[in-house]
This record gives sequence, C-alpha cells and structure tokens, in this order.
Amino acid sequence: MSTKHEAGHRSHRHGHSREGAKQPEVFNPARAALLDDPQRFEYMAPADVLKLLDAPEGSVVIDFGAGTGTYSIEIARRRPDLKIVALDEQPGMIELMKAKPAMRQLTNIQPMLSGELGSIIGTADRILALNVLHEVGDDALREMSQLLKPGGSALIIDWDGEMDRPIGPPKGHTHSIAEARDRLTAAGFEAESLEHLRYHFVLRATRPAKIR
Ligand SMILES: C[S@@+](CC[C@H](N)C(=O)[O-])C[C@H]1O[C@@H](n2cnc3c(N)ncnc32)[C@H](O)[C@@H]1O
Repeated sequence: MSTKHEAGHRSHRHGHSREGAKQPEVFNPARAALLDDPQRFEYMAPADVLKLLDAPEGSVVIDFGAGTGTYSIEIARRRPDLKIVALDEQPGMIELMKAKPAMRQLTNIQPMLSGELGSIIGTADRILALNVLHEVGDDALREMSQLLKPGGSALIIDWDGEMDRPIGPPKGHTHSIAEARDRLTAAGFEAESLEHLRYHFVLRATRPAKIR
C-alpha cells in the first residue's frame, strides 16, 4: 500500500505511533522559522483557510499540529467569536507559540500539549490540520475523530504529493489526494474534496453519524 512506510516506529518522546505517516520524521522545531515565513500567506491565505473551515459562530476549533501557531493566531484574530485550541505534541512548539506576543494578547486561543487533550475530547466543531497529515500516524487520525463533536468536521490541508512544487517537503514525503482520502477513509471518515490551493489539496473529513 502506498502509505505503508518506513515510519512504523513509535515516538518515545511523545508516545504517538507514527505508523501510517508518509514523512519519515516529525517536523523538527529547529526548522520552526519556516512555519513563520510570511510567504506562506501568499499561497495559503488565512482568509481562504478560514472560509474553507466554515466554522459556525461561537464554535470550538482545534488546530491539530499547530506548530508555532501561525494560522491559529490568524484565525483567532479574525474570528474573536471562536475558541481556538492550538494543539501540538512537541513541547518545543508550544514554547515557541507561547513566546509570541499575539498569543498573550488574544483571549480566544489556548495552546495545549497533546498529552492534555483528554479534557477536550468530543468538543471540537472544527479541526484544522494544516501540513499535518503527511507526518502523523494513524493514531493521530483516531485522536482527531475522538476530538470531534457529533456533526463536526476536520479540514485537512496538505502539500499535494503529485505536484512539482518549488517549496515544501519532497513529493515522496507527501500524499496524493487519493492516498490522503484512503487514509481518512480507513480511519472511519468520509472525505470530500474541496477547492485546491496553489500547492495544497483540501479535504473535508466527517464521521458518519453511526460511527464513533
Ligand atoms: C509541518 S508542522 C505544521 C504546523 C502548522 N499546522 C502550520 O501549518 O504552521 C506539523 C506540526 O504537527 C505536529 N504534530 C505531528 N504529529 C502530531 C500529533 N500526533 N499530534 C499533535 N501534533 C503533531 C508537529 O509537532 C508539528 O508542529
């Protein structure tokens, strides 16, 4: 199977199995400056992400694998009515996001380490997983499923593995749309393709009502 990978090991640091991940290693916090590159907003505008997210008024959004919180902050700033949880499994990322002045100023955003997510099971109206699918194992997809409220949905935006791109991870470390869909389906989601961004595919993942 195309998503079968060398990353079948368990991360001892964070406890997540990365089985199913396409990229062999988790994102290294030493490269965090890449996540704060303003050029990102040119090919993936926060306003477009927010539109695709389609978060209802006053809802809870979990930014799953928020990294340095680049997009969590933009969403929180543009939508004061939302409650944003900026979740990451790496303490180094949480430190970097907490160090941002915007993170201290905004009252509708909460950084959270994955180890603490027990308190937010079943609370998410929307999940945003931006540049995350290719590096997470299937365990993480199960977590996403548990975090969603009934009727909630996850917006999966990731580098298109079938495109020649001047930026982003190597093609072989990223998914084709079909591979991404297969992984989501295998994890119990229904996946619908939304509009393609310049370098990223966009999928909306929902859980059929019966499956929990
Ligand atoms: C490529 S970065 C993207 C960060 C952010 N979404 C952005 O686009 O700016 C992927 C992030 O996912 C986090 N991550 C990987 N696996 C995770 C998991 N199972 N649970 C939570 N976070 C995870 C990594 O620590 C890293 O910060």
